[in-house]
Amino acid sequence: MADYHQVAGGSQLKGPMTQVTLDSRNTEFWNELCGSQLARSLGITDHTPESLRRFDDAYLALYPYLTPYVTREDLAAKQVLEIGLGYGTLGQYLAARGCRYHGLDVAPAPVAIMRHRLTLVGQDPGDRIRQGSALSIPYADASFDYVYSIGCLHHTGDLPKAVQEVHRVLRPGGRAIVMLYHRHSLRRFVQLPVRYLRNCIAGRRRYAGFGETVRAYYDANTEGEAPPHTDFVSRGQVRRSLFKDFSRVRIDTRNCDAYVFLRGRIVIPRERLLGTLGRVLGTDLYIVATK
Ligand SMILES: C[S@@+](CC[C@H](N)C(=O)[O-])C[C@H]1O[C@@H](n2cnc3c(N)ncnc32)[C@H](O)[C@@H]1O
Repeated sequence: MADYHQVAGGSQLKGPMTQVTLDSRNTEFWNELCGSQLARSLGITDHTPESLRRFDDAYLALYPYLTPYVTREDLAAKQVLEIGLGYGTLGQYLAARGCRYHGLDVAPAPVAIMRHRLTLVGQDPGDRIRQGSALSIPYADASFDYVYSIGCLHHTGDLPKAVQEVHRVLRPGGRAIVMLYHRHSLRRFVQLPVRYLRNCIAGRRRYAGFGETVRAYYDANTEGEAPPHTDFVSRGQVRRSLFKDFSRVRIDTRNCDAYVFLRGRIVIPRERLLGTLGRVLGTDLYIVATK
């Protein structure tokens, strides 16, 4: 853990916020389903099968590199845990592939929608979808063949502990597929500092400082508020520190913004950048780690 503090520049909990406070703030913040802005932009106001299908189509089109992390694996009859459920697109996709799907989330709303989605694919959720924290996964050691966690563990406030927990619940040879935000992305290194400076100079400051501005840019809720905590990690931190107990680690850089220059006269669409710039300086790291 000390190593992580050093290399990460002390990005874990600082100041007066305790883990208990953060857990309760996370529970409250994430109880608005992550993806609510996308749903709103699509005019989705309910969770009928048709609305969820429209949401999932749009979500998967936005992140076209996501499903190969599922289809490349042989999940049939495997014990799979997903941590950080959001709107439940990935969870339903996993469950529909014949694995023994389990879900965990700190907030009640993602748990509720995931339970609903399991019934839509003809499965009884039983106690397989639980409310709880990634920092204390409510399962015994070596319970799972796979753990999926996309965009969640960096919000917990103790990323090393969260990764240790994932390692603990995986059986030997089991695999973790984890997305964490990339510390060295073009968005975080160039685009957001420039934007922040421009806004400061123009006197347009909504957030308390640069950190909150960045958190809000990545994960604002529909009120525009920033999530309570977000960590950003480098590939080196992933390999040398966070995932050092895994026997094999592969890191893919993914995701990218569109770029607009000269007052909209030059626009480079996001789709063009996903397979190029996004593979080097993209916003997300997809980590495939074998125990
Ligand atoms: C940014 S959303 C990602 C959701 C989904 N995986 C996706 O990619 O759309 C983060 C999710 O992690 C959950 N989360 C945040 N802190 C957590 C914790 N300590 N333990 C478990 N889940 C947590 C939130 O409730 C939320 O559903």
